[in-house]
Amino acid sequence: MNLYKYISDELNKKLGFNAKLETPRNREFGDFSTNAAMVMAKSMGKNPRDLANEILPKIKELDFVSSASVAGPGFINITVKDDFLWNATKTAATITPAEKPLIIDMDYGAYNVAKSLHIGHMRTSIVGDVLYRLGRALGHKMISYNHIGDWGRPMGLVIAWIEKLHPDWPFFQDNFDPKGDYSKYTIDPHELDTYYPKSSSYAKENDEFMLHAQVITAELQHGHPGYTALYNIFLPIALASMDRTIKSLNIVPFDNDLGERNAAKYTKSVEEMLREKNLLEQSDGAEVVVVKRKDDNKPMPPVMFYNSRGAVTYDATDIMALYYRKKTDNPDKVIYLTDKRQSLHFEQLFRVAELLNMFPADALEHIGYGTLNGADNKPFKTRDGNVAELNDIIEMVQSAARDRVTESGKELDQETIDSIALAALKFNDLSHDLRADYIFEPSQITSFEGRTGPYILYTAVRLKSILKRAGEFNIPTNVTLEPDERNLLMALLDFERIIYTAFDNRATDLVANYTYDLCQLINTFYHNCPILRDDITPDVRATRLSVVKMSLNVLERLLDIMGLKIPNEM
Ligand code: ARG
Repeated sequence: MNLYKYISDELNKKLGFNAKLETPRNREFGDFSTNAAMVMAKSMGKNPRDLANEILPKIKELDFVSSASVAGPGFINITVKDDFLWNATKTAATITPAEKPLIIDMDYGAYNVAKSLHIGHMRTSIVGDVLYRLGRALGHKMISYNHIGDWGRPMGLVIAWIEKLHPDWPFFQDNFDPKGDYSKYTIDPHELDTYYPKSSSYAKENDEFMLHAQVITAELQHGHPGYTALYNIFLPIALASMDRTIKSLNIVPFDNDLGERNAAKYTKSVEEMLREKNLLEQSDGAEVVVVKRKDDNKPMPPVMFYNSRGAVTYDATDIMALYYRKKTDNPDKVIYLTDKRQSLHFEQLFRVAELLNMFPADALEHIGYGTLNGADNKPFKTRDGNVAELNDIIEMVQSAARDRVTESGKELDQETIDSIALAALKFNDLSHDLRADYIFEPSQITSFEGRTGPYILYTAVRLKSILKRAGEFNIPTNVTLEPDERNLLMALLDFERIIYTAFDNRATDLVANYTYDLCQLINTFYHNCPILRDDITPDVRATRLSVVKMSLNVLERLLDIMGLKIPNEM
């Protein structure tokens, strides 16, 4: 239940007036406060305090109000009945589905073949997954896409590199037989990940090699039998290693793996559409779509569809992907989540989609996220100055988590330590504003105290263990609440509002930070309201155990939305 919305709607109905409801930090004088009388007085030419006193009895008639009073120049403070809060909290973890469920395509992950995932893929994976889970929790039909980089120039470079290493392999010979058995030609996955970086830096120094790679790309795209057979050997190796990362990050598997290669199957259809509308122009042997508008006051280069070798570009595959999505999902929205440095690419793409009448501009949305920086505030690098690979980062955080556990004198199994590490990594990423850069510090994020994933997990483990020790109990119908219990219940009743707001604003930090605040309230309640101690009466114990249960219900949903696993012990 969204308590804020409920109270606000009921008040507005009662007063026949739309006013803003405030939630004061200090609840001494009330849980909510409205300036309705002050706003109404203005239009009626009345004294605000007098009007507040006039409407006070009306407000007191509302069945959830336990007391209401006038304060200051005409504010009305409202305190909600304990019993009302109590009943409402029983379903605090339930989310009323969105009134208008949408079909939403989400494009994140953005992995590449023959290039291991690096730190830049972390946020798109973690945040993309949470946005996906948020949308799903609200009842939208979410369809996730990993637009894998598996068809452009990097593929030509990789094949050229393999040819340089193994010039005698059959794939490069004129008499190549596509029907042959080539199963003995294998590539080590770690080796494979080095091919693209190596070949691309080699190509920068060697024009001939670069040219050759470009020709290979075009030939691969046009079905060259040898290159295709080789490609079909390394593609599954790369996909399998992506799958391992997806599993180790505990993100929901992608619904659709229409990457560049599969999208390129629609090249001819899209080309036709472009030609029909006269949108393809010749430019130095390439074919481009001009997207510049008269009122542009910044550079807006054309979108290259075919390059001068006749290969489709990264830009073009994104148009084909939109064509496919329109034809299949026909989504209300397409949301892309990439590094903010790709903003121009998406602006160009959205213009092409508009020119083709495929999607209106407001159906397409690009979220550009910030970079992870090191202590020096420059993009995070490993100690040897290289771009940090995602697997290395996961290992770094795992080892920091292991150290923390050892320091604390606990003995936890590997699986538990891994889930603590994952929580540390993900929670930290989620708690920062998505669009801003942040400083990434593996040793800090694993602390069991403060705004960290381990602290959140620890709170959940604690609640579970209380319930386990307590055994059976019944949820009482009538209760009198302590201030710490009231504070906690009020926060639990904000869950639904947070989920809606977080999704609507694409602000995953709201979920993480709300979870942290909630855990603090849970732990304050735990310290001030003993539960299993001998001197606690059965009624009070049942009330407090119910608070624990209701808190856990909400916390478990939050953890699930953030893709975190609660360990058995901590
Ligand atoms: N694979 C691309 C890269 O590493 C990002 C893909 C993002 N998604 C998209 N539909 N363009 O830069």
